[in-house]
Amino acid sequence: MTARPLDPPDVPGADTLGGLTARQLLRLCEVAGLDTADREVYARTLTEMLGPVAGRPLDLPPATPTFLSDDHTPVEYSLAFVPDAAPTLRVLVEPGSGAGGLAQNGRTGLRVVRDAARRWGFTTDPLDELEDLFFPPSPEGPLALWCALELQPGGVPKVKVYLNPAASGQARAAETVAEALRRLGHRRAFAALPPSDRHLFFALDLGDWDEPRAKVYLAHQDLTAAEAGALSRTEGGPPSALTETFFRIAAGQDADGDAAGPGSTEGDGPGPVRRPVQSCHAFTDTASSRPSGFTLYVPVRDYARHDGEALARATALLDHHGLDSTALARAVTAVTSRRPEDGVGLVAYLALAHQQGRPPRVTAYISSEAYEVRPPVGPLSAEAAIAP
Ligand code: TRP
Repeated sequence: MTARPLDPPDVPGADTLGGLTARQLLRLCEVAGLDTADREVYARTLTEMLGPVAGRPLDLPPATPTFLSDDHTPVEYSLAFVPDAAPTLRVLVEPGSGAGGLAQNGRTGLRVVRDAARRWGFTTDPLDELEDLFFPPSPEGPLALWCALELQPGGVPKVKVYLNPAASGQARAAETVAEALRRLGHRRAFAALPPSDRHLFFALDLGDWDEPRAKVYLAHQDLTAAEAGALSRTEGGPPSALTETFFRIAAGQDADGDAAGPGSTEGDGPGPVRRPVQSCHAFTDTASSRPSGFTLYVPVRDYARHDGEALARATALLDHHGLDSTALARAVTAVTSRRPEDGVGLVAYLALAHQQGRPPRVTAYISSEAYEVRPPVGPLSAEAAIAP
């Protein structure tokens, strides 16, 4: 039998949102070493999770705006690199994309996650216990529910659900996170979190995990490398120097903290606004007051002129951690035919993850760019440089 990587059954046409993302995912699955059967299952799963927007022609604008990606594609990919193995492919989806309003978006998201739980035989108990906190009747904020799948061999993914702490208003976000942690049995976890500017996401692992995590994502505006190095609250690592070096390489800074990219302090006037750096604190053991995992996310697209630069930094980071970067270049051609230099944002984030008892993991977040490519930041033109 011959493989049909570009023409899978039950996938919409290539000129639709579902068709494009299914084809991107099929090729990424190949990069991640998944077999043909798994690839087809996962491409179909993505299409199903997208629901009605999957069939939406790409020449129409996005059905609804989404905070999930810069160009409002309700899908984002990531590759987590670990030593001596093919990278793990994950896909982040907004199942309620296209629903009329945030409340409906959340209800659709919950239904899709519960359908997935029935299909793959896992419990949604932890999510059910938090439903009133994250799904109030009139929700606010940048999202209602996102779902990420870790695409393991065998066709049954691990599932992660992302919720919005600001659902009852930004002013209640901290309280919502504290209550959610408490309900899950992490009584002293909230007090262990480092200072931050905002609580961005609350995430739960559902399904087949050895140690399911409850995760809190924090935003840190204008963070320095030294500050980044001091954010982890896990016992025994990562060393602050490791986090600092990661931050510097990802953000393109030299050891003095000087950056060459856009938004730097070079030149006059305020630079473009940069997204905050994020930290994630993972709690697995209710008997411990401390997190067992720490991840730092650098929005590399706001620190680079184009994706050529972002990819060079990703490669440098992988090399630095002794991880094989060949899959990264292949992943790029799996999602786009444009040259990396011709846009910025294909690589959305670079992350360094530390989980107790495991080697550090480097993750690259890859945008679908179904709707738009952000133009590269050009060199200052002569006129701009001498303008008053
Ligand atoms: N697009 C949002 C952001 O840039 C949310 C998001 C998508 C995100 N993927 C992410 C945040 C990966 C952190 C890491 O913030």
